[in-house]
Amino acid sequence: MILATSALVGDALAQLGITHGPLVHAPFRSDAWNAHLPQAEALILLLSERLSPAEVEMARALKAVGTFSVGMDHLPQDALRARNIAMVNTPGVLTDATADCALALLLGVSRRLREGEALVRSGQWKGWEPDQLLGTGLSGKTCGILGAGAIGQAFARRVWALGMHVVFWDRAGLGGDVSFGPDSAPRLPLPELLSRSAVLSLHCPLTPETAGLLNAETLRTLPRGAIVINTARGGILDEPALIQALHDGHLGGVGLDVYAQEPHLDPRWMQAPRTMLLPHLGSATVETRQAMAQLLCDGIRKALR
Ligand code: DGY
Repeated sequence: MILATSALVGDALAQLGITHGPLVHAPFRSDAWNAHLPQAEALILLLSERLSPAEVEMARALKAVGTFSVGMDHLPQDALRARNIAMVNTPGVLTDATADCALALLLGVSRRLREGEALVRSGQWKGWEPDQLLGTGLSGKTCGILGAGAIGQAFARRVWALGMHVVFWDRAGLGGDVSFGPDSAPRLPLPELLSRSAVLSLHCPLTPETAGLLNAETLRTLPRGAIVINTARGGILDEPALIQALHDGHLGGVGLDVYAQEPHLDPRWMQAPRTMLLPHLGSATVETRQAMAQLLCDGIRKALR
């Protein structure tokens, strides 16, 4: 039996139910979900559903856990590995969508698009002015990218096309240059990367090494006016420190798609200046979500075989 908390997107899950069912739908931790857990051979979860080691223990028939995300920080990976339960996620297919979303945030923040749109909609726009809503240019500046994997490289291609210089930091440590398609860029130690980055964009997973990586102290080492973009995971950044650095003018702007306790946002975000805040939309295109569902269901099929 496959126990899924959501219908996903497209018909991949329904097809999986036909070939490898029965398929049971029940909201995460509802009475029905709890009741079916001991018989489930596969669980299908969303990134917001934090499975506990105790639940893995209760799922005696479990062979696979699939998450409709590339991120797996919500899964008890040690407990699953100890029982040899397959973990299925969705790498690769959301690379471009996520990098596009990070670029949209960067342009939105650097060119003050949110304020511009609000001005037009307010009916108060009096026409073109020489110094109206001046933003920050990107060409010729340095973009530091945390994470040299597929999404970090896809973002590098985008900012390279804007004329930015790219530098990477990789949690795997220092190594040779990272080739990202049209060019390659050095991997730097974190302090050096931060001190050079007019833009900093996060594309690494949330792991014990990256949790809280950017805190009050490390954020201070960014050049004054730097822009920070996060489409990875909220827990990598210390949000109160980020808010403080916006208020005191050290940071030039922040664009976020992810938050430490989403969907519960620190209420201070609502008053923070020079921000663009999105509701975890990184992979939210029809094509991408359908491809994620297909990849996930194919992986579950393989694991159950
Ligand atoms: C992921 O897949 O981990 C993204 O955060 C959402 O698609």
